[in-house]
Amino acid sequence: LGQGSLYDRVGPDALGALVRRFYGHVARDPLLAPIFPADLSLTAEKQFAFLSGFLGGPPLYHERFGHPRLRARHLPFAITPERAAAWLACMNAALRDTPEIAADDARELYAALARVAVHMVNSPAGTL
Ligand code: HEM
Repeated sequence: LGQGSLYDRVGPDALGALVRRFYGHVARDPLLAPIFPADLSLTAEKQFAFLSGFLGGPPLYHERFGHPRLRARHLPFAITPERAAAWLACMNAALRDTPEIAADDARELYAALARVAVHMVNSPAGTL
């Protein structure tokens, strides 16, 4: 358990499949779809690049786009606790859709993302 980075254990192919499936769920989520662009291909590309570095692999986001400044980048969107929960539910669904990622790795990945999601909340509950 825990050999190498999470990126090494998951690999770019499964990570790409996860990100694609994640935005498939986002596009169908009534709380999330309205704040995302209709065409999610660039969003998915940036998320793949970010997660690559975040999970200990190549720092593709930094190389292409600079420092992610994630909290600042999310400030234009009203991210309530409900939207954070919806985002994590989409990720959980995408992990379930992605058996290429082993269960232990999926749990570790989800826990790491849940810690970041808390910090993206910038609007109080019930203010959608
Ligand atoms: C971009 C929503 C959490 C990473 C975005 C965008 C929205 C959004 C609306 C803009 C999409 C676009 O214009 O292309 C949310 C919501 C979250 C959340 C509702 C709930 C908590 C997270 C988390 C991460 C993350 C936890 C990282 C682990 C990113 C990245 C981008 C992004 C890397 C692209 C930034 C860029 O434009 O360069 N997010 N997000 N987000 N988000 Fe989130």
